Order: sequence, then structure tokens, then C-alpha cells
Amino acid sequence: MALKDFNGAVAVITGGASGIGLATARTLYAQGAHVVLADINNERLQQAIEQVRQHAPSMTGKVLGVPTDVTQEAQVQALMQQAQNTDGHIDLVVTSAGVGHGGPIDLFTNEEMQSMMNINFMGTYNCTRAALPAMRSQQHGHFVFLSSVAGKLGSPLLSGYTASKWAVRGFSSALRAELYGTGIDVTTVYPAWVDTPMIQQEQEAMQLLNIVAMLTPDQVAQEILQAVQEGRHDLTLAPNPDIALVLQIMKDDQDKAEELLGQNFQQNVQKLVQH
Ligand SMILES: NC(=O)c1ccc[n+]([C@@H]2O[C@H](COP(=O)([O-])OP(=O)(O)OC[C@H]3O[C@@H](n4cnc5c(N)ncnc54)[C@H](O)[C@@H]3O)[C@@H](O)[C@H]2O)c1
Repeated sequence: MALKDFNGAVAVITGGASGIGLATARTLYAQGAHVVLADINNERLQQAIEQVRQHAPSMTGKVLGVPTDVTQEAQVQALMQQAQNTDGHIDLVVTSAGVGHGGPIDLFTNEEMQSMMNINFMGTYNCTRAALPAMRSQQHGHFVFLSSVAGKLGSPLLSGYTASKWAVRGFSSALRAELYGTGIDVTTVYPAWVDTPMIQQEQEAMQLLNIVAMLTPDQVAQEILQAVQEGRHDLTLAPNPDIALVLQIMKDDQDKAEELLGQNFQQNVQKLVQH
């Protein structure tokens, strides 16, 4: 059963203090939802609460900020409890908390890989487990998991990020099958580069990987809400022609797609070396 109307819905958004999470919170609030923002960055979280309210001053929904580290199961349980206390239900959970750094596999440490998996994948898992009891008793609920086009491709220098986003994709697929018929659904989002603080911090990688952000957080937020209303399971947003092409090739010929990604990466390295 798709969530058609956000008016009066309770939505939890992790990573709600920035980028895609914050844009999704603003858009939901403007459509009448109560929004519960969760983020590890408390300072930005407090600013985000104000931004959400100011975005739609005439709306009267509740806006809560709950400082949360999504890798900590107990904190995520407390977050979902607070969300449920807001109005007695949890209708939508958007897991946008994430980190996105990379590096050559030879230098990518065990700690970095663990941390990437913990935030990007275990964070999603923790939110799911913590929100499910409420959703099961209501017999409805919707999860939106932020994967990435890196959850469908193998990106050089982003092996840890790619692994964590493939994990989110596999988890989504299993969950949809397991929750079939319960009234609880999952939309998985696979955006190409989006203009947010996450990629703005990675100037060197942007050159090496030829990163061009063609999506804004607001566009992604609009697309997410539409996909939820339509009950879509796969929301792939790839306006970059090169990424769209490799995604297409990947469907039929994974070897060919990996070859193209590798060649493109080598060419970018050569260009930088020559400069
Ligand atoms: N920006 C892109 O190009 C892009 C593309 C595809 C997918 N994504 C995914 O979208 C999601 C949102 O990314 P964004 O671009 O908006 O990034 P962002 O950096 O703007 O926002 C991410 C937020 O997550 C929070 N966060 C990090 N670790 C956390 C933790 N342990 N617990 C709670 N919060 C934590 C950060 O404080 C930040 O506010 C991420 O999962 C990212 O991988 C981003």
C-alpha cells in the first residue's frame, strides 16, 4: 500500500542535517508531515530544524531533532521511540546518513572500511530493525534507503563506498521479498552525483573520477517523494550521459562495463599526470 499523502504522516530522516536528507525533510514538512531529523552533527541539526520550519512557515507539523549516531543500535532504538511518541505512528523512514570518501585499495585501511560499512550499511539495518515493530503493528510503513549508482556499478577508488551501497541494495531486495504482503514497502534510491557537502569535500577525487554533479538535493527530494507515492522500488537518477550508458551496459554485460570504467579511470589518471 503506497503512502499517497504525507499530510499528518510521521517521517524519520537520518542524515537530516545536510544535503539530500535535509532537502527531503523540508519537502515533507511543506507537504504536511511531522519530521524527525536525526544526525550525528548536533550543531548542524539545530540549524536544520530552523531551516525546515522557515521553508514552510505556515505549516504546523512538528519538527524534532534527535542527535543520533546511526551505528549505535541503542541510539537508533531511542530515535524511533521518540518518533513514535510524536503522534503514535511511524509512516516513513528515510536513511540518508552516510559518508563517501575513498582511496586506492592499497591505502584503504581496515578501520576505514569498517566505518564505511557501519555507517552506510549497518546504519540502514539498525533503522530498519528499530522502526519495524511500529510499522508491523500499524500494518503499514515505508522505508527509503539511499544507495547510489555506486550500488549498481563498481567505481574505481570507491571500493569501500561501492561495497556499502551494494550491501544496501541487496538488503533492500531481500527485505522487499520478506515483507511482501505486510503493507511495509521499500524504495531504494540510486542517484549519480548530487551537489551536497559530501562531494564538495572531495575536490581531488572529483578531478580524478571526473565528477560532475548534475542533480540538486531538492530535485532528489522531489523524486523520492514521488517514488514513494507511486510505490516504486527502484529510483535511479542518472542524468550524466556517461553514467547512464555504463548503467545500461552493466545490465547485460558486466565485464564490458567494468572494462569501460577501468579505461576511463586510466585516462583520467594519465590526463592528471600530464598536467
Ligand atoms: N552527494 C552525492 O553525490 C550522493 C550520490 C549518491 C548517493 N548519495 C548518498 O546519499 C546520502 C546522503 O548524502 P549527502 O550527499 O546528502 O551527504 P551529506 O554529507 O550532505 O549528508 C550526510 C549526513 O549524514 C550525517 N552522518 C554521517 N555519519 C552519520 C552517523 N554515523 N550517524 C548519523 N548521521 C551521520 C552527516 O553528519 C551529514 O549531515 C548518503 O547515504 C550518500 O551516500 C549521495
